[in-house]
Amino acid sequence: MAYLSTDAVEHHFHDVVIIGAGGAGLRCALQLAEKGYRVAVVSKVLPTRSHTVAAQGGMNAALGNVSSDHWHWHMYDTIKGSDYLGDQDAIEYMCRAAPQLVRELEHQGVPFSRLDNGKIYQRPFGGQSREFGEGGQASRTCAAADRTGHAILHTMYQQNLKAGTHFYEEFFALDLITDDGGCQGVMAWDIGKGAYHLFQAKAVVLATGGAGRIFQTTTNAHICTGDGGALTLDAGLPVEDMEFFQFHPTGIAHVGPLITEAVRGEGGYLINSEGERFMERYAPTAKDLACRDVVSRAIAIEIKEGRGCGPNKDYALLKLDHLGSDVILERLPNIHELALRFSGVDCTKEPIPVQPTAHYTMGGVPTNRFAEVVYNKNGDHDVVMPGLYAVGEGACVSVHGANRLGGNSLLEIIVFGRACGNQVMKRLKEHRYHPKLDEDCWQDGVARVNRWLDEHRESDDCEKIANLREEMQNIMQTYFSVYRTHEVMFEGVEKLEALAEHMSSLVIEDKSKVFNTELIEAMELENLMALARVTAAGALARKESRGAHARDDYPERDDDVWMKHTLGSILHDKVSLDYKPVRTLPMTVESFPPKKRVY
Ligand code: FUM
Repeated sequence: MAYLSTDAVEHHFHDVVIIGAGGAGLRCALQLAEKGYRVAVVSKVLPTRSHTVAAQGGMNAALGNVSSDHWHWHMYDTIKGSDYLGDQDAIEYMCRAAPQLVRELEHQGVPFSRLDNGKIYQRPFGGQSREFGEGGQASRTCAAADRTGHAILHTMYQQNLKAGTHFYEEFFALDLITDDGGCQGVMAWDIGKGAYHLFQAKAVVLATGGAGRIFQTTTNAHICTGDGGALTLDAGLPVEDMEFFQFHPTGIAHVGPLITEAVRGEGGYLINSEGERFMERYAPTAKDLACRDVVSRAIAIEIKEGRGCGPNKDYALLKLDHLGSDVILERLPNIHELALRFSGVDCTKEPIPVQPTAHYTMGGVPTNRFAEVVYNKNGDHDVVMPGLYAVGEGACVSVHGANRLGGNSLLEIIVFGRACGNQVMKRLKEHRYHPKLDEDCWQDGVARVNRWLDEHRESDDCEKIANLREEMQNIMQTYFSVYRTHEVMFEGVEKLEALAEHMSSLVIEDKSKVFNTELIEAMELENLMALARVTAAGALARKESRGAHARDDYPERDDDVWMKHTLGSILHDKVSLDYKPVRTLPMTVESFPPKKRVY
């Protein structure tokens, strides 16, 4: 047992503590709670407000309900979509497991949409092919209308309540407790009561989601602040491939909310100011259902070359009225509502103004396919950090490589949430007791909050948290957007590093403890800033174009030099970069070697 020299920290003992209550965290929790383990889910929001709730279009699995399909074709599409940066063992594992796990979700209660024959409805999504790209478009995305994430998250939450998972809601994770034995728990702050909690556990799972809020215009909720990645950096461990940030082609122009790719899957298409269906020029075969990186770049070029729409010629139009209001209201009801609410457009009558919008963090905390966090020790990049696991968007396993396929995110959270639960179970069988912790293990977590609440800290720097966050988001949006060059990114890195220096002199006005949202925003900004710095440095260093990292000055992919993962750390407050090889060997089938990506 730990002997804390303070009674101001409440001490909890669990077998496992999972930070984050999105689909990945809850699927992992379920695997363990159903086996009778004492599982804690620590979440900064009520679980059903986790960002999985916003996932719209669906979850990929080669069920073959609509088109002929096979998990091997799904694997090929995912590797090609990743621009050959995805780890092929993990991709094989995910694509093979997909059909079984979709059926399992159905039995757990996810209300998937149906075909007339009663089977699960599947729609076409970007980058999906049959017979290794030779046999046309597959329909692989299982959907619950356009609210698939909502359906999955609520089902997972209900199943966890039934299984007896302990929920600590509105708790903010402050610091990982690590020692020579690995990760032993986490310090957290009860937002509602303003109190410290030490969660001691034999396994800690980071399931904290993406970091989309490093950008100004994003489909991500305000809560997507990369908290798990920041905790990892703070523990002296790296994050992987952060320079690969997915811009979804169809965020609502100027405001960001997602208009699902399902619109194009159902037959919608993009047009420019001349009314031209321009994707036919960029991707003659797949057209509007090319991969997201391809479509986002095409929109950016149309805008740059003066064929954007609207008074400022800065967006494209997504046309779907020809689908008819019956189809729209049955299969895309959420889109209909979002378009009305955020752009005043009735999409059964008019096209929706859209722009590429920051959507998905391909990088994250490096793991192997068992969700164990790995790092580099003496040149071995696969060394496992005992007791620490990561899953979902905040992790980098890496099944998405340089560009994720739509519909593979909901799949990843379920496949690796379950895999993580299974791996944690193995550890729990070997580690039956909580070890004694260092006496001062709670101090860094407490110091993190106290620094902000200190009445005596003053600053001449009158900058507010919100202003600094906006400046950071502005820098990321301006200098690290869809197209990048050395000159632009170099300036961006300089500006960002200068801005990061202000963090130490920032103060907050509200020094109260109970429900202090300014305090939470300050700590979220710490997290965002750390991840933005690593993202920017990794992007500047990578001298090639691959997937979502598109450089005007290095327009080609360079497999000889750059077919490797970036590892970014922050050591002594400086960003440092390292690299590790891509895992090109699948588990049981032959490798897919890199070739030119055309759609
Ligand atoms: O467009 C969408 O519905 C998004 C899906 C995804 O990111 O997987």
